[in-house]
Amino acid sequence: MITEKMQQAFLEQINKELYSEYLYLSMKAYFADKNLNGFVNWMSIQVQEEHAHAMGMFDYVIERGGRITLDTIEKPKNDWASPLEAFKDVVQHEQYITSQINALYDVADETKDRAAQLFLNWYVKEQVEEEASAGDILAHLELIGNDTKALLDLDKELSSRVFNPPVIG
Ligand code: FEO
Repeated sequence: MITEKMQQAFLEQINKELYSEYLYLSMKAYFADKNLNGFVNWMSIQVQEEHAHAMGMFDYVIERGGRITLDTIEKPKNDWASPLEAFKDVVQHEQYITSQINALYDVADETKDRAAQLFLNWYVKEQVEEEASAGDILAHLELIGNDTKALLDLDKELSSRVFNPPVIG
């Protein structure tokens, strides 16, 4: 059985994962407006991944005998000055999510919830990947600067990303 404290921490993180989904959906709309369809594809996959992150925790809380209650999802930003500025936000957001997953892990530690710790190991590893993949794209965008041809090449590269449903836990 999940403790009240652990359950509350998971509910707050589910909200943050759903906000992540919403933020990347907003970025998808931004890139669609710029006709950068590779970036649109990358964001579409990110949206699905964030949904999976939220649902993994949603199902886990229920499996542990908890009760899910949903809260308001914060309104995301809707516009960015450039793809570079959007990806600065992606990296900053993923670093924030990493800190929140670590805080969730701390609650599992404090409450001696071994099952939650094991479950959260997947998320700890996933955040390493999340920060690395967003960081790579940000680094490329910094190199690209105002080179439109190079931006279109990166856009083409991002069109090849495919969604592999994560096996969480
Ligand atoms: Fe759910 Fe992008 O971390």
